[in-house]
Amino acid sequence: MDTETIGEDDWNELQKNLEATIPVYDKINRFATLGQVSKWRRKVRERLPEEGLILEVGCGPGSFAEELEGRELICLDPIPEMLRVAEPRVNEMRKRNGYNEAKFIEGKAEQLPFEENKFDAVCTLFSFRDWYDKKAGLSEVLRVLKPGSSIVIVDPAKINRVHGYLGWLWMRIWVGSYAKVICKQDEHPWKWLTKTYVHFGTTKDYVKMLEEVGFENSRAKLIFPGMATIWQAEKPLDLD
Ligand SMILES: C[S@@+](CC[C@H](N)C(=O)[O-])C[C@H]1O[C@@H](n2cnc3c(N)ncnc32)[C@H](O)[C@@H]1O
Repeated sequence: MDTETIGEDDWNELQKNLEATIPVYDKINRFATLGQVSKWRRKVRERLPEEGLILEVGCGPGSFAEELEGRELICLDPIPEMLRVAEPRVNEMRKRNGYNEAKFIEGKAEQLPFEENKFDAVCTLFSFRDWYDKKAGLSEVLRVLKPGSSIVIVDPAKINRVHGYLGWLWMRIWVGSYAKVICKQDEHPWKWLTKTYVHFGTTKDYVKMLEEVGFENSRAKLIFPGMATIWQAEKPLDLD
């Protein structure tokens, strides 16, 4: 693993562990983020357009998608079990409240199963860290976005090495101990949170990567030290 790629074996192992988090995902997430996660999700929602088609890459069990009621939405995830849980969670509520259903599609960021210039925005929350080839995934997002439209990413990046060490302690000790109790096992799947965090880069690494793949106006904001940075960038109106 490095700041740009995760080897195939590690990625497959990570995916198995992510699947194992499904029953306790929201509970541990709330604890790990001291209940802040809903505020961060609101910050993403505010950056997404009210009108037009939105893609969420790495929707997991639908924790963010359920908050996008009323918006035209496609959710993508490589784990079929995530989609099986997310779809009824999101669509039953939408139907009850008289909104169109969201679509759920199996796939990976690195090979998006969509034509170019399709989406009015793409978001990805706590998933970018797990993409096995981040540059390939961002290039795919650029391809499927309409010119002038935004990508919004949230994940815990490091500002520098000291910050990275404190983040590691937080995940290893605070989140790890709680996950061990909740999952009732020493080898709990949240250990992979620490692993992927250690290899994830700095805020600046991904501001630069967004520019390198062709986005413009790439910027980042730390929204909670050690736990959440938000990046945003736009597809140029003219790609020539
Ligand atoms: C921690 S969950 C995030 C769920 C949700 N977005 C949220 O806000 O809580 C990360 C998700 O990213 C997905 N993922 C991992 N690698 C991916 C890839 N290469 N392309 C798309 N999704 C990926 C995983 O399958 C997992 O469901």
